Amino acid sequence: MKVNKFDLTTSMPEIGTDFPIMRDDLWLWDTWPLRDINGNPVSFKGWNVIFSLVADRNIPWNDRHSHARIGYFYSKDGKSWVYGGHLLQESANTRTAEWSGGTIMAPGSRNQVETFFTSTLFDKNGVREAVAAVTKGRIYADSEGVWFKGFDQSTDLFQADGLFYQNYAENNLWNFRDPHVFINPEDGETYALFEANVATVRGEDDIGEDEIGPVPANTVVPKDANLCSASIGIARCLSPDRTEWELLPPLLTAFGVNDQMERPHVIFQNGLTYLFTISHDSTYADGLTGSDGLYGFVSENGIFGPYEPLNGSGLVLGGPASQPTEAYAHYIMNNGLVESFINEIIDPKSGKVIAGGSLAPTVRVELQGHETFATEVFDYGYIPASYAWPVWPFPDRRK
Ligand code: FRU
Repeated sequence: MKVNKFDLTTSMPEIGTDFPIMRDDLWLWDTWPLRDINGNPVSFKGWNVIFSLVADRNIPWNDRHSHARIGYFYSKDGKSWVYGGHLLQESANTRTAEWSGGTIMAPGSRNQVETFFTSTLFDKNGVREAVAAVTKGRIYADSEGVWFKGFDQSTDLFQADGLFYQNYAENNLWNFRDPHVFINPEDGETYALFEANVATVRGEDDIGEDEIGPVPANTVVPKDANLCSASIGIARCLSPDRTEWELLPPLLTAFGVNDQMERPHVIFQNGLTYLFTISHDSTYADGLTGSDGLYGFVSENGIFGPYEPLNGSGLVLGGPASQPTEAYAHYIMNNGLVESFINEIIDPKSGKVIAGGSLAPTVRVELQGHETFATEVFDYGYIPASYAWPVWPFPDRRK
């Protein structure tokens, strides 16, 4: 109820119908930088590197999810991106599609790279399996560009258990995906955040007073609000090679409020823990509306909370009132820069929806205690590294 689409400190700049398209042959959407395990984007031998979900641009925009592959791009200046191709070999993913995750330089290694992603299996009823997985390989670069080797197999890490996290049997419209791996500075342990739902059988539990919270006396909770049950999950890593994990209870739930809190990620700053996620108007429960974009929550007691919504409402960076669905899959980096992809622009003349499938302008968001402020707009797809990954000379061999 507190989400305000007209607050300019939490709004993206308006994207016009004449936005630049990065690739004529590809849709690209959810994007993340090559980074260290503490969340800092890194360059490799002078190259900035990003990863995006990609699909052939001939596929209808709304069908892209079942064709999603992870592609990679590199640039010298953090914005003129050259496409390098798919990251994973054909054999690496045993399921239908590669959905979001993140890519880290393995701590202490020279050029070992680990991509955590969602290995997703579809059938005619929807997402049948969705498993957090890892695929490993190495990065190489010379003056001409960047390339990868390995990524020829993947290992399943964890999946919904039906106890903390809703599974297919409980709801065939479940969500379980988008692992984000990081070291928690408070205990030095490795964790993964992920998108999930509260483990109820769809529609069988009622929204209680705790979920509704303090609201005006005449507030009516529609019957179907209980179909929306987003949660942000967390798993703890049990092995040094980051392949064994245990599920812990969710950090945050939105039962009766929204059905999706996607791509969760975290920033530790000035002793505060900032938990970010993306959501959209279309997944709010009956009786509620909101913005498409980045939401955030802050804890004064570390990763396990309790959390309070940033800005009172949780909204950090949403679509402007004139173009509410213009961008999505926002990702805020430790340097305060928020990147996202262009989603759907409404042509003000014809009213027609124009699919984006390219990167949106980057926006700087300052975090100040329990508040955030959008302060600066950069170029489309500006995703610069914060520091150069330490490498020492080794032979460049493309064989
Ligand atoms: C967000 C998202 C992610 C998912 C991907 C699938 O845009 O829904 O949660 O991994 O897109 O295409």
